[in-house]
Amino acid sequence: MQTKYRIHHASAFDTSPLAAGSVDLVVTSPPYPMVAMWDLVFAEQDPQIGDLLEGGDGEGACARMHGLLEHAWDECDRVLKPGGMVCVNIGDATRSLRDDFRLYSNHTRVLNAFQARGYAVLPDILWRKPTNAPNKFLGSGMLPVGAYVTYEHEYILVLRKGPRRLFDSPEARRRRRQSAFFWEERNVWFSDVWLDIRGTPQHLPGQAERQRSAAFPLELAHRLICMFSVQGDHILDPFAGTGTTLVAALAAGRSATGIERDGSLAAVCRRALEAAPQWARSHTQARLERHAQFLAEREQAGRRVRYANTCYGFGVTTRQEVDLWLPLPKQGQWTADGDYEAEYELPGTGPATGAVS
Ligand SMILES: C[S@@+](CC[C@H](N)C(=O)[O-])C[C@H]1O[C@@H](n2cnc3c(N)ncnc32)[C@H](O)[C@@H]1O
Repeated sequence: MQTKYRIHHASAFDTSPLAAGSVDLVVTSPPYPMVAMWDLVFAEQDPQIGDLLEGGDGEGACARMHGLLEHAWDECDRVLKPGGMVCVNIGDATRSLRDDFRLYSNHTRVLNAFQARGYAVLPDILWRKPTNAPNKFLGSGMLPVGAYVTYEHEYILVLRKGPRRLFDSPEARRRRRQSAFFWEERNVWFSDVWLDIRGTPQHLPGQAERQRSAAFPLELAHRLICMFSVQGDHILDPFAGTGTTLVAALAAGRSATGIERDGSLAAVCRRALEAAPQWARSHTQARLERHAQFLAEREQAGRRVRYANTCYGFGVTTRQEVDLWLPLPKQGQWTADGDYEAEYELPGTGPATGAVS
């Protein structure tokens, strides 16, 4: 198996290098409208946004920011295959403009945008970030009625383009079975509140123009890719930032394209890709070890699993996990075209295989 990664220094509003119907899954996190760190980025792309913010018209500014994002959602729609999935990580914004405090519900607007394009809205995930300031309060403190709820969560919206994807050839069905996840992972991943993923360090190294990356955690992207695509698929992140989605795709045995407007992040993204095989191998090893632990605990409780996995030989809980295989990348390389390519160990030959008996 071979996968390929390409980063375009371009705008998400123009994905013309990508062919229509060439993407299986979009995983992304756009700049969040009405969150102050993105004001300038939005205003550069639509100068009226700056004027509206300056004039204290938050609702007007928010509407125009989402108007810009709509161009990106149009492009996602163009490049997605029928049955393809979209996962958008977005937070709502709480903000005071001219002493007028309110919530700007970004997730509602993004949902509406996809619904207007005919997408099926599927159950979303609340990503609850562990906080260092649980007693932080906004508004009138201990006095009613002007105190405000502290927001500590973000959304992961899950959408589907049209009817469910079909796996209608023997090869497509084989790839799907190989891409299965463990039963015990399913129980955590498909919960509607994710409590176990911490935020990621935001500091950007020297040469990037921004101070903060706004990156989402690798584990978050990796989980979504495993949940909503199969090995060999093509993933797109139209707001690629530091390249987290591309790294996660490499670890999951999927190809990926990233689009990022800020050229100063290209070097960060390249370094992240070069480090990806190493991260992928230790991440895979950790998954296999967790499964071994799960089996040991079950055994101790006197509950044996009924099936054996064909690649690793260990026990699994359900028939659907019998052909499960976790891709194990070898060192990747840059091609003359500027793509990063990765090759993988053959199922059953990687060193991690021996780690779990
Ligand atoms: C929330 S960050 C995404 C971070 C990314 N998920 C990561 O892990 O690094 C949003 C990104 O969108 C980029 N951006 C803003 N407007 C854009 C546009 N029109 N086209 C492409 N990228 C854009 C910003 O520069 C920023 O890097």
